[in-house]
Amino acid sequence: MNKIVVVTGGAGYIGSHTVVALSDAGYTPVIIDDFRNAQPWIIDRIEQITGHRPAVFDIDCQDEVKVAKVFDQYETIFGLIHFAADKAVGESVNNPLKYYQNNIGSLCTVLKVAEERGVRNIVFSSSCTVYGAVSDPVVTENHPVKAAMSPYGDTKITCEKIVRFTQAVSDSMTAILLRYFNPIGAHPTALIGELPQGIPNNLVPYIAQTAKGVREKLTVFGNDYNTPDGTNIRDYIHVVDLAKAHVSALAYLSSKEKQICDIVNLGSGHGTSVLEIIESFEKVNDLKLNYEIGPRRPGDVEQIYADASKAKNLLGWTCEYEVEDALKHAWEWEKTIEKMETK
Ligand code: UD1
Repeated sequence: MNKIVVVTGGAGYIGSHTVVALSDAGYTPVIIDDFRNAQPWIIDRIEQITGHRPAVFDIDCQDEVKVAKVFDQYETIFGLIHFAADKAVGESVNNPLKYYQNNIGSLCTVLKVAEERGVRNIVFSSSCTVYGAVSDPVVTENHPVKAAMSPYGDTKITCEKIVRFTQAVSDSMTAILLRYFNPIGAHPTALIGELPQGIPNNLVPYIAQTAKGVREKLTVFGNDYNTPDGTNIRDYIHVVDLAKAHVSALAYLSSKEKQICDIVNLGSGHGTSVLEIIESFEKVNDLKLNYEIGPRRPGDVEQIYADASKAKNLLGWTCEYEVEDALKHAWEWEKTIEKMETK
């Protein structure tokens, strides 16, 4: 059967890798993306990798009439994976209304359209940011959700509640909230990857741009934390592994007769420090990185990584790639961007 999966934000970083994973697994992904934070040529790359060109609708997810028209083109829709959202923490602090309006508005619209059409399997893209500052670095899904430190984080907490309450009274829906830890890397073909707008906020794109010479120097945000080398510890996960987890999540949802709303952490279960990331990047790519130790970044959590056992038990999913693979692929991808830019 032709299993249609609507992927909002399907041209973005995690979205594009998930579209590839869905296609590889025999699904028919349909992308809704208004390309506010994605490039149209990513679609050509998806086709190059998979041999299939996904249907793409250049639409703002807040536009209910247009979103409904997309859903109405298909007789049966197997699932919805909702990625479309703004994601820059700093920007969200300066422009909270942009984040509340787009992230919450988009979710409400696509959920409403999906619910009215009886779409069953709903996957929501959430973040470990909902755990806030943690006292024990290893977090299970039972860890309490803490008051958010940014409007971005608050939209993730609010969107989780919106999915939960909507699913609870829906006759058709079953849902899963996937809490990502730190996605990094790129597709091994180096045809798709992360395309940060402006100065990257996240560590690995900043490292890759420094290695390329786009940025002069990486600043390590503090080395006086209570960790073995003094730098923050995070759970970095290869974006291809993360993408595959969405395919496992859909299979899990469709296998359950009972309607549910589950929450699952997506991480490797291992913590890596900022200095370890830098050293690994230098080692696997055989280069030296220009970096210095700077002050702490306000709002950074000292250390956090996933208890990934629920993902394994429930979804049968674990990471296949190591951090080193992700850092190699991140660099391969960065070099490709350089080639494109100099064309
Ligand atoms: C951030 C977001 C999180 C989001 C995630 C997506 C915050 C508070 N959290 O997580 O909500 O889901 O990105 O991947 O922003 N670092 C440096 N120098 C740099 C950049 C980063 O030392 O130039 C350090 C940071 O201090 C941190 C680690 O690298 O310890 C990872 O940072 P980053 O990639 O921004 O991710 P998070 O802050 O964990």
